[in-house]
Amino acid sequence: MPGTGAVIMAYNMDEAEELKPYLVEAPAEMSRRIDALKQQGKKIGLVPTMGALHLGHMSLAIAAKNECDVVVVSDFVNPTQFAPGEDYDKYPRMIDADLTLLSQIKTDYLFAPSPQAMYPNGFDAKVHVGGVTEILEGAFRPTHFDGVTTVVLKLFMLTRADVAYFGQKDYQQFCVIKKMVEDLNLPTMVEMCPIIREADGLAMSSRNRYLSDEERERALVLNRSLEEAERMIHSGERDVETIRKRMRAMILEADPNAQIDYIHFGNTQTLQEMERAVGNVVALLAVRIGSTRLIDNRIIRPKANA
Ligand code: PAF
Repeated sequence: MPGTGAVIMAYNMDEAEELKPYLVEAPAEMSRRIDALKQQGKKIGLVPTMGALHLGHMSLAIAAKNECDVVVVSDFVNPTQFAPGEDYDKYPRMIDADLTLLSQIKTDYLFAPSPQAMYPNGFDAKVHVGGVTEILEGAFRPTHFDGVTTVVLKLFMLTRADVAYFGQKDYQQFCVIKKMVEDLNLPTMVEMCPIIREADGLAMSSRNRYLSDEERERALVLNRSLEEAERMIHSGERDVETIRKRMRAMILEADPNAQIDYIHFGNTQTLQEMERAVGNVVALLAVRIGSTRLIDNRIIRPKANA
């Protein structure tokens, strides 16, 4: 991510306090502040997050900062996108650390509402996108995307964002949100930013902190298997089943107890399953390492001059 390192290195502890984003908790206050900014003709960039920020989120905020006048990062662990038994209760919440991290790039606002403020008693609306929500994550977490689209639409309305930034790490989520924007003619533009990886290839995720050191080591096979898929395609392999078998074998060799929910090769726009890897293809996988469910993906383009 060009520029990311430089901005993050420019941190000065003494200035941290005054550089912290302004914390807004009440949705009505967020709306009011946005009204005033819109009247001044400001372009609003929104980075929706569930907090526990890492460099992946920071890269989104930096993209927003480069393209917009005002940057709002939302920090809300959205209860409606978790099913009973998922990690809603243990999901990390660390607003102070998030404020400090964002002070490094002087984000304007951190919007961190309470669940009660976002879903007051009697709240009874739901945004449902069909089609692309029914496979992959949607098949394993059937209520998940309704929770995501509902909260994202609320965030779009409250911030009246001109542009909203999402990470490629949640590739299917981006496709779902893009479909919602198209189908509902929403005025917000959505932008997908590249996956940010640790030096050893692990895709950054707030959930990585659940992994023990040994599990983290085993989890590195996810990215390695995606790289192998790319290598095979670039060497001329087109049969997706052959590639999938190779990826499965790699994952199970690294962790015989890994639970592979899916390894999917799909159309980059619709995610529709491809049996032959021809043209642009996105490889997506979800694997449980220990009790942590990880997702990762790679866009594989035909080799230049192939
Ligand atoms: O990607 C996430 O962190 C969440 O799904 C989002 C988009 C912030 C909605 O809660």
